[in-house]
Amino acid sequence: MVDAALDQIKALAATADESTRHSIMASLHKLAYSLELPDETVHRYGCLPLQTTIIEVGFNLGLFKLLVKSAGPLTVDEVAQKTGAEVLLAGRLLRYLASIGAVDEDSKRRYAANALTENLADKVAEPGIRHYLYTCVPQYLAIPEHLKKNGYKSPTDELHTVFQDAYKTDKHAYAWFGDNPANLAYFNDFMALRRESDLSWLSVYPVEAATEGWPAEAPVYVNIGGSIGHQCAQFKAVHPNVPGRVILQDLPHSIAQALPTPKVENMVHNFWNPQPVHGAKFYFMRGVLHNHPDLKVQTLLELTKAAMTADSVLLIDEMILPETGVNVDTTSMDLTMLAAFASGERTEAQWRRLIEAAGLKLIKTYVYNGGSYESVMDVRLP
Ligand SMILES: C[S@@+](CC[C@H](N)C(=O)[O-])C[C@H]1O[C@@H](n2cnc3c(N)ncnc32)[C@H](O)[C@@H]1O
Repeated sequence: MVDAALDQIKALAATADESTRHSIMASLHKLAYSLELPDETVHRYGCLPLQTTIIEVGFNLGLFKLLVKSAGPLTVDEVAQKTGAEVLLAGRLLRYLASIGAVDEDSKRRYAANALTENLADKVAEPGIRHYLYTCVPQYLAIPEHLKKNGYKSPTDELHTVFQDAYKTDKHAYAWFGDNPANLAYFNDFMALRRESDLSWLSVYPVEAATEGWPAEAPVYVNIGGSIGHQCAQFKAVHPNVPGRVILQDLPHSIAQALPTPKVENMVHNFWNPQPVHGAKFYFMRGVLHNHPDLKVQTLLELTKAAMTADSVLLIDEMILPETGVNVDTTSMDLTMLAAFASGERTEAQWRRLIEAAGLKLIKTYVYNGGSYESVMDVRLP
């Protein structure tokens, strides 16, 4: 009976759009947790970090890629032999990974890849999970003490938030990255690899129509805080014939690693200084403003506004939270932003307020990934 019900849900999920798929996952998790006894709830929450650390051990052993590449299930001995782990330890790790659903185990204690193993073998998994483990988890551990010390208020100063307590530093998180190349590399790779091109602003925004007749010598796309330039490369790949200069801007340590995409100009620019590129068609920021508290967002919007002309569009690519029922990935991101930057994720009303406070106007919002609320806001001079 259970199997039949699960098959029905699987069939529903297979054809669901992104929002429905998310709501199916949320309902199933809620149902599973509602069946827990008190001890089980304690174990689940208490041991959550162990999941992350054992996945990291799996990465270090090349376990997930090994299982994904294997033609059939592998015995513990085979896994031990191929990874170099002791047989007893390999068995204990595999048994644990099977118990959290990361690999499949059969009745003969053989192990095989499942859909989660495939996800963990994907190129985004290692840098993404290592970014959380080595950069975010130490901050998560410092959250309770920080909030207690500060009277349970949302932090508003990015130089005095959980991050500084966790790392015993007075630096801003992005300045700290400059001194911590391994953490920076995980972060940049995570940012670069986390999206597929069909789930980007380019799938919803009418770029060609907006740039028709744009002068070839004028800047068409300035990606502010664009990391190592994966979105600039994507812009050129999707719209090779759109005229105009494509410019990547970021801090020196990111520009030093920038992709050498033909016809993309890689420019060091600290965005707290006046925007040096004037009159571009698109000023684009993805995931930049959610890194900053309201007053800083307003400053950055004002600095961008000063460079805009009547033809310019500021594209703000961010999650726009619904007022209720926000999914766990997004609420986690919100608190991660709180810890690292004294910032957070915002609802449309909050975005609108910030945009208007900077003297700009929100013209239209395009949602490109309903499941994660990712949207691009078209903002112009009033
Ligand atoms: C969350 S990441 C987003 C990266 C990219 N836009 C994306 O969506 O993948 C924020 C980016 O802002 C950059 N950044 C932070 N502070 C900056 C500053 N003061 N000037 C320029 N870039 C900065 C970081 O180096 C990082 O690449």
